[in-house]
Amino acid sequence: MKKIMLLLTIVSFCAVTAVMAVQPKKTISFDKAKMGAVEFSGSVHKDAGFKCKECHNKEMFPKMKQGTVEITMDKIYAGELCGKCHDGTRAFSAKKSCKRCHVK
Ligand code: HEC
Ligand code: HEC
Ligand code: HEC
Repeated sequence: MKKIMLLLTIVSFCAVTAVMAVQPKKTISFDKAKMGAVEFSGSVHKDAGFKCKECHNKEMFPKMKQGTVEITMDKIYAGELCGKCHDGTRAFSAKKSCKRCHVK
């Protein structure tokens, strides 16, 4: 009986991890700005070679859940959150290319 319980626990743990890993194929939309919605593509960022921890850490986006961190341009320009990379060095500059993020 104990063995079966253990097996069940492992199986359900794997199922949960599979669901969590949905982000690479998913696009989440941040639509609060009047500038237009920002489409954040998990695939684009995964293909750029980033591990989850690169963004899901204490300083940036601790939770794997949308809407847990308030994103403002001030923070981005200051090199925080998306601005950690979108500074014209690691990725295109936020200051220069509004429309690459604010698509609609
Ligand atoms: C380039 C940065 C970045 C990388 C790399 C990244 N994420 Fe995310 N992820 C985000 C952001 C930003 C959010 C939204 C957070 C918020 O709004 O508070 C998010 C949200 C999520 C969500 C919630 C989606 C929803 O619909 O609510 C899941 C699940 C997730 N990430 C899983 C992952 C996994 C698994 C990996 C690694 C394979 C990963 N993420 C890599 C930036 C990233
Ligand atoms: C860990 C570094 C990193 C972080 C953090 C990051 N990005 Fe990116 N992002 C990249 C790289 C690298 C690319 C590939 C394009 C390039 O090389 O400039 C990219 C591409 C994009 C693209 C595709 C643009 C196009 O024209 O194809 C969008 C949109 C984007 N990022 C939005 C965001 C948003 C919104 C956030 C914050 C929620 C964010 N990114 C956080 C590194 C990052
Ligand atoms: C790397 C992606 C990215 C780029 C480039 C970018 N933004 Fe944003 N911006 C965001 C995200 C993400 C939000 C948060 C939207 C939300 O919470 O729904 C945001 C929010 C905003 C807001 C509302 C919040 C605030 O801080 O006032 C304004 C206005 C804005 N952006 C203007 C701009 C302008 C102007 C540019 C170009 C000079 C620009 N953005 C370039 C990602 C980007």
